[in-house]
Amino acid sequence: MSENKAVGIIGIGTYVPEKIMTNKDLESIVETSDEWIVDRTGIRERRIIAPDMATSDLASRAAQKALEDAGVTADEIDLIIVATATPDMSFPSTACLVQANIKATHAAAFDLAAGCSGFVYAMVTGSQFIKAGLYKKILVIGAESLSTILDWTDRNTCVLFGDGAGAAVLAETTPGYGILASQLGADGIGGDLLKLPAGGSRNPATAETVAQRMHFVHMSGNEVFKFAVKIMGEAAIKALKAAGLSAADVDCLIPHQANIRIIQSAAKRLKLPMDKVMVNVNKYGNTSAASIPIALEEAVHGGKIKQGDIVVLVGFGAGLTWASAVIKWGKEANTNC
Ligand code: UT7
Repeated sequence: MSENKAVGIIGIGTYVPEKIMTNKDLESIVETSDEWIVDRTGIRERRIIAPDMATSDLASRAAQKALEDAGVTADEIDLIIVATATPDMSFPSTACLVQANIKATHAAAFDLAAGCSGFVYAMVTGSQFIKAGLYKKILVIGAESLSTILDWTDRNTCVLFGDGAGAAVLAETTPGYGILASQLGADGIGGDLLKLPAGGSRNPATAETVAQRMHFVHMSGNEVFKFAVKIMGEAAIKALKAAGLSAADVDCLIPHQANIRIIQSAAKRLKLPMDKVMVNVNKYGNTSAASIPIALEEAVHGGKIKQGDIVVLVGFGAGLTWASAVIKWGKEANTNC
């Protein structure tokens, strides 16, 4: 086993549903305004999944694009990890459904639950299998259909979220490149701040749980906001330190796209100008575990990230959880391995 194997992202792809819901559209659903939503969150529109689709469909499409981008075929994939809070169903896992959809016949598959931090958790988890020499190519996916678990009568939550998926292929990469360091964290004491109370073993589905709207997202927005503002900068700095770097070395920050004010405060804490920060919360809202790979893909394919750049991914979410990773960007797979 080599602890020193460099593991990086060798391909990335995304899929977002076609249907756009604007803030104006929301004005006719709940008592809100475009002005309030833009001012408090930075969100202008979000994507909504088609009624005949589910999370595994979004995930499979993103996965196929990531495979194409990496120049890898589905049967080369050894493991699929899907980070999601909105699986198609409790079981089978969404990762198994994706495995069947994309015909990744040799891949093991499992889901990972870490809220909006899920993609970074999945990437760090997946990379360990490659470092350990167990697997060579791994698909990590963040995919969500948040619109299916939103209470469309609750203006505190329904304006914030959107649907989408982002996928990345991990492989051994050129030494010195790839994931340089990471930091995963959790504070389960804060679990009540952001949850879907029913549908699990604690509150199995009954007519009463449905009537009480317990199958929708419940969130203490202000508390989550305070936690996010504190943890985003801290988590990024810890990972940078572990990589032997400082905030001054960062070429591009990919923060979880929850709220422009949270993103700005993280940038301020790191003393980063906003032109080094990827922002697309305006177009997609908060897509939970999908937000970081969707933002990363746009930054990579939009030319905001170049070979050799130091890229920091940082997110927070239900759990409570947080996750950060420092990547030296270099898309080449190490063909010697
Ligand atoms: O991925 C992790 C997921 N969660 C998050 O990232 C959420 C983090 N939290 C936030 O982003 C912010 O706390 C929110 C955007 C959710 C709320 O912003 P805020 O500045 O903390 O507003 P607030 O909750 O303090 O509400 C201020 C006012 C309230 O009215 P009153 O009590 O002052 O009369 C709310 O009822 O704004 C009202 N309000 C709205 N008004 C119009 C809340 N939601 C809306 C709305 N439209 N959609």
